[in-house]
Amino acid sequence: MIRFEKVTKRYRGTKRPALDGIDFEVERGEFVFLVGASGSGKSSCLRLMMREDIPSEGRVLVLGRDTRTLSDRRTPYFRRNIGTVFQDFRLLPTKTVSQNISFALKVIGRSRAFIKTAVPEALERVGLESMGKRMPHELSGGEQQRIAIARAIVNRPAVVLADEPTGNLDPTTSVEVMRVLESINAAGTTVVMATHEAGFVDQMQRRVIELSEGVLVRDEQRGSYGDTSAVRTLRPEAERGAAALAALTAAQEVQRETLTGLISTSERDPEPEAEPEPQAETDSDAVTESGDALETDRTTLPQIDVEVDELGMADRLGLAESHDDEVGPTS
Ligand SMILES: Nc1ncnc2c1ncn2[C@@H]1O[C@H](COP(=O)(O)OP(=O)(O)OP(=O)(O)O)[C@@H](O)[C@H]1O
Ligand SMILES: [Mg+2]
Repeated sequence: MIRFEKVTKRYRGTKRPALDGIDFEVERGEFVFLVGASGSGKSSCLRLMMREDIPSEGRVLVLGRDTRTLSDRRTPYFRRNIGTVFQDFRLLPTKTVSQNISFALKVIGRSRAFIKTAVPEALERVGLESMGKRMPHELSGGEQQRIAIARAIVNRPAVVLADEPTGNLDPTTSVEVMRVLESINAAGTTVVMATHEAGFVDQMQRRVIELSEGVLVRDEQRGSYGDTSAVRTLRPEAERGAAALAALTAAQEVQRETLTGLISTSERDPEPEAEPEPQAETDSDAVTESGDALETDRTTLPQIDVEVDELGMADRLGLAESHDDEVGPTS
């Protein structure tokens, strides 16, 4: 699903590469923690997966696409299969919760019928079904991040990439966010999460990929944050990790009881994407499109009532391509 082959990333004007000969593969359905000290290359890795950057050397394959050969024009379609979550939530402050979630779907031309079911479903999946009419500033940080996750998953992506999603949250709210990410993964979505949060990593016993100064120094199937001298551990973070660990243990008890029911009622996709994992390494850069999205793209442009360019979101949401009449997959 995601493969790094001898990936090196050099930024202009820097001496040492941010990533240096990285090799790893993430399979469908995995939950992977990317850990390492500040500056070790975690965000650089995630940016390569999102195709916000391409490697200086080596290859990054995501959902069967080589991000180097994928054209800029196709990139928005590629990204529709990837949900992203960031430390700073990135909600639109003048939109309600529901509008924040439906906005991305409107931009990519999803049908009204799809939006009508998908938005409440996404809210339910993050446990905030009653908050649709609120404004972001009326929510706690943890709730805002759960809305950002709802937005990331509403188009039912195959993979969610999260860069320090709990970085701005206190231990208890961090736990809520982790529970949501866990349940999304339990329902089959691949999750790759960069974090400094040792408590979660130790507790969850998932795969851990550790970077140190751009080099992959550990890839463990059921890892912990570990006794890594490379990781800069500040005392308050350690305390915070311990509190988070205790809270997560309690939360996981609840989750164990509720998860099965949650998945069986809300995770099933009534309109599965046509091709969740495109043919590996084909030369074609066609990316999965569901029928109704494609139809709408070809006929009418979506009605947008916000200046996404000003918000720096046009590219991410695919709007940059919306005036392009050559849309949709070619194969
Ligand atoms: N756009 C850029 N231009 C130049 N150097 C960059 C750029 N982005 C990142 N770097 C450098 O690349 C290295 C890796 O940065 P990266 O942001 O990937 O680290 P990180 O592990 O995410 O760190 P943190 O935990 O602080 O978020 C750092 O040395 C950083 O200074
Ligand atoms: Mg980072």
